[in-house]
Amino acid sequence: MERLVIVGGNRLEGELRVSGAKNAVLPLIAATLLTRKPCVLEGVPDLRDVAVMMEVASFLGAEVKKEGESLYIHPAGAASREILPPLMRRLRASNLVMGPLLGRWHYFKVAYPGGCAIGSRPMDLHLKGFVAMGASIVEKQGFIEAKASRLRGADILLDFPSVGATENIMMAAVLAEGVTLIRNAAREPEIVDLQNFLNKLGARIQGAGQDVIRIEGVKELTGASHRVIPDRIEAGTYLAAVAGTKGKVFLRGARYDHMAAVIAKLREMGARVEEDPAGIRLEAEGRLKAVDCRTLPYPGFPTDMQPQIMALMTTAKGTSILCESIFENRFRHAAELKRMGADVKIEGKIAVINGVSKLSGAVVEATDLRAGAALVVAGLMAEGVTYVEGVHHLDRGYERMESKFQSLGAQLTREREG
Ligand code: EPZ
Repeated sequence: MERLVIVGGNRLEGELRVSGAKNAVLPLIAATLLTRKPCVLEGVPDLRDVAVMMEVASFLGAEVKKEGESLYIHPAGAASREILPPLMRRLRASNLVMGPLLGRWHYFKVAYPGGCAIGSRPMDLHLKGFVAMGASIVEKQGFIEAKASRLRGADILLDFPSVGATENIMMAAVLAEGVTLIRNAAREPEIVDLQNFLNKLGARIQGAGQDVIRIEGVKELTGASHRVIPDRIEAGTYLAAVAGTKGKVFLRGARYDHMAAVIAKLREMGARVEEDPAGIRLEAEGRLKAVDCRTLPYPGFPTDMQPQIMALMTTAKGTSILCESIFENRFRHAAELKRMGADVKIEGKIAVINGVSKLSGAVVEATDLRAGAALVVAGLMAEGVTYVEGVHHLDRGYERMESKFQSLGAQLTREREG
């Protein structure tokens, strides 16, 4: 096992280039299974989750090759077959192959990816959409099997604007007969990126980014190349780290229009944030101010930034109220922050954070990807040395995190756990 060793207290300053968005790449790789023609994805980050999704696509018979930031996928040989538990357990987002397999082969059999550190992660909304389009679903012995003689467009209302369910239903609808409407659809930028890629393949989709998406089924798709959008959560994580260390940064490639809620909250806390055609500038001096924050579906404040903003609140001036309304168990980083001297009380979905004057370095454990990111932010802010164990969680979603932080002046190294 590996851990990060962080000597806190340095003011972070400099310029970083934002990597391609993990949560855009994963559905894009799944979407290539809808066609037989070669596709190229540009700006693909070097992440464990991407590597696992590439493994899933090649397991299904696609030829997959990554050269630098270009990902070449030739799905001609792909076929719907049983996806084994070990593969599914390694990445929940592998469930995004359900829509393409059902859409292209009218069949899939996948193992339940299972829950994870932040919640049970059900898939009922995905399956309800598939049934509405004519699929019959059998769930047994930890597998989900879906069959459809024909796949017909349907008018589907999501009980909750689920990102994965919106993506899976969109992909299943691309080759269905007739028109599918997804109402109360998720509006995340990654959904818009998926629509743009699918339309390059010849799909007929409109409305992504709003709450009703219309998909008109087509007969078959062609190939395409597509540059992935920048990662708004990676960008938000670095903005938080620089704000927490009273620093100054330019994030090249960050998209201001994808980050309005995060930027508004950082400004409310006292950071100065400016939009630039090539990226985003942030500068913070003096102690941040406490704020209230509630996570919401896009364009609200993203749940994937909740741990990181909690880290900032631990030393802000005053008391912050933080509500996690998306996942049922996404406060596990609070206990670790308390080991560093934070004053956090959890009551169900609500966290009350009383700002303390400083955090102290400690040995802490990352329980999931974003909790780990929050502990790195806290370690950079703290006095003394922090050891963040469970670095493999970070490698799932942050490309070259050490070198990016080191380039901003952080004293942060990776070592094998003693
Ligand atoms: C995506 O997960 C992201 N992952 C998550 O990012 C992100 O936190 C989440 O969206 C919310 O923004 C990827 O895009 C690969 P949801 P997803 O379906 O699609 C409930 C990260 O750190 N729900 O929008 O799984 C669910 O339990 C990861 O990068 C149902 O009840 O999220 C949760 O409470 C973590 N039934 C809520 O909806 C369903 O059928 C949001 O889930 C589906 C979801």
